[in-house]
Amino acid sequence: MKETFVVEPLMITKYTVDSFLCNMYVLMTQESLRDGNALVIDTIQSEEVLKDLNRADIRNLTIILTHEHFDHTTGINWLRENFEVHLISHEVCAKKILLPRNNRSLSIMGSDEDSRKYRYYPPYSCTTDETFCGDTSIQWCGLDVKIVYAPGHTAGSCCININTCMFVGDSALLGLPTLTRLPGGSQKDYNSMTLPFLKNLNLETVIFPGHGSVYKMAEVTYRGDCFQYIPDLKEEL
Ligand SMILES: [Fe+2]
Repeated sequence: MKETFVVEPLMITKYTVDSFLCNMYVLMTQESLRDGNALVIDTIQSEEVLKDLNRADIRNLTIILTHEHFDHTTGINWLRENFEVHLISHEVCAKKILLPRNNRSLSIMGSDEDSRKYRYYPPYSCTTDETFCGDTSIQWCGLDVKIVYAPGHTAGSCCININTCMFVGDSALLGLPTLTRLPGGSQKDYNSMTLPFLKNLNLETVIFPGHGSVYKMAEVTYRGDCFQYIPDLKEEL
């Protein structure tokens, strides 16, 4: 399943394999297309992604991970088989994805049909090409990509910001409290660092989460431990 968003100069395509697995975002601009480059945030395996990237004549992928969990990293090695990949992640995330035993979080978390099939997904190891600690920024095809350290969901989590777009991984899913009880998670870090950062975002910011729907800060309010749609809250009254 895919959905496309245009936030000039970015064309952003959100790919989702099924309801449980993560959103993979593929970003392109007119300039990046000329040079065969795309920016990817989190990864899944999808033939549709492969077909679309080949059709756009993409050869080079810069991949940034929002965090280390299994469901956000399954596509890395698969993409490496098909493209020239430069993988960027927080140093904690980089250490976690290197060790095969750490990428089984989905099988631990889920008991439904989707997660059962991944219980037998072979353990794998991913090598990061560029790591960072704290906040950082990179230049990608003339755009300033800011990366903000956002611990809480995991110790290797970050939010990725380009213009008004904010890719938040699992730190701000719409209508769901952020999970902090898995290994490396910290409610204290989330409450003291990540949540204040998210609550202070400009109302024009468009949030691209790791699961579920894309939303604008102006459309939501923080209530009951999560960001919720204001129209949904009105219906409740
Ligand atoms: Fe996660």
